[in-house]
Amino acid sequence: MERAEVVILGAGGAGLFCAGSLAGRGLRVVVLDHARAPGEKIRISGGGRCNFTNLGTSHETFLSQVPRFCASALAGFRPEDFVALVDRAGIAWHEKTQGQLFCDGRASQIVQMLVDRMGGAELRLGVAVTAVTRHAEGLRVDTSKGPLLAAHVVVATGGKSIPRMGATGIGYDIARATGHRLTDTRPGLVPLTFAEQDLGLSAPLSGIGIEARAALPKAPGRRAVAFQDRLLFTHRGLSGPVILQISSYWQPGEPLALDLAPGHDIADLLKQARAEGGRAQAATLLARYLPDRLAAAIAAELGMTGAPLAAQSDARIKGLARRIHDWRIRPVGTEGYRTAEVTVGGVDCRDLDARSLRSRHVPGLYFVGEVVDVTGWLGGYNFQWAWASGHAAAQAI
Ligand code: FDA
Repeated sequence: MERAEVVILGAGGAGLFCAGSLAGRGLRVVVLDHARAPGEKIRISGGGRCNFTNLGTSHETFLSQVPRFCASALAGFRPEDFVALVDRAGIAWHEKTQGQLFCDGRASQIVQMLVDRMGGAELRLGVAVTAVTRHAEGLRVDTSKGPLLAAHVVVATGGKSIPRMGATGIGYDIARATGHRLTDTRPGLVPLTFAEQDLGLSAPLSGIGIEARAALPKAPGRRAVAFQDRLLFTHRGLSGPVILQISSYWQPGEPLALDLAPGHDIADLLKQARAEGGRAQAATLLARYLPDRLAAAIAAELGMTGAPLAAQSDARIKGLARRIHDWRIRPVGTEGYRTAEVTVGGVDCRDLDARSLRSRHVPGLYFVGEVVDVTGWLGGYNFQWAWASGHAAAQAI
């Protein structure tokens, strides 16, 4: 049987980075991927410009059943360390917002940098991994092109999101078959969908974006969460960064609380306008804070068209303000793995060592990147986890 010291399963961000961190150590390293090219998700990420890290990375920007698990690996390879590599490779970048760093040019520059950094590691594409089993002399990796025997196997096969980009869930199968627990998995960073009867506002406004706040109350195993960012109305429900962020926390059946005009006090503003004469209609005033069509749709929904503000009661104004600042909507689901940027959940952190990402049950076996129950917020955190966890495993090998 063919032998290598290290076999890395998956040539995504985590696998490539792990291979690069092993370079120069004189080990025989083989990286396997069934795709035709390495780093396909990196290539399409960040709208083609790759949001490769976030300067505000901390364990608090990740979801996991073991909330502090990721802290150790993140401390061992920080956003600044990745920036140093990007600078050394001569890749121009900029900070977009909230610590999010993007390439000025194409994301493929990052893929090239990672492949160059791998040194002598052998990258084998078009090879599907089917199983990992214990063997008297190490670990046996079964593939579509025959088996390999290795002292160390790093599972970096990602999650289930975007199957057309190569996602398979094989990492979970390997974890389960080798005695590891899995936490429940679900699509994360994903648009939310509404039932037909709740699409009255969203569908006609499809394509309109606003600044909004989305919140979920405290629930078993979850603190209260809230995000403020752009919201986008879609034909099927809601999307945009604020919705993607909250989607990772949302549990089926839960209502979402949305503030469509954060930072304003709509009731106060309308009452003030009414006191000053109130000749305009509610929708006209609302349009100072919301897009015209959204303002008109909400006013119409609450039957506040046709009469000036002067004719509107306190109760109606309060009702309108509640509709804008505390819109309770119960999504029926998400757009699923077809469009989800990540998979929430995965290999249970209790079965891994936090410093090395090494299995607590199988000597020589590691899990890194998205396959682990560590899921970052939107904004470059997921790649930082891929780099840091890949690096941590390499340091331990
Ligand atoms: P990843 O999924 O990247 O790699 C796994 C590899 O394993 C793949 O190459 C796959 O082909 C291979 N594989 C799977 N099954 C296999 C099998 N059976 N045999 C062989 N190979 C197999 N994050 C971020 O921080 N900033 C951003 O800008 C974005 N943008 C973004 C956009 C879009 C559209 C998506 C879908 C996702 C993002 N993300 C992101 C998330 C980010 O892409 C993700 O968290 C990392 O790519 C995870 O890296 P991994 O290496 O763990 O998995």
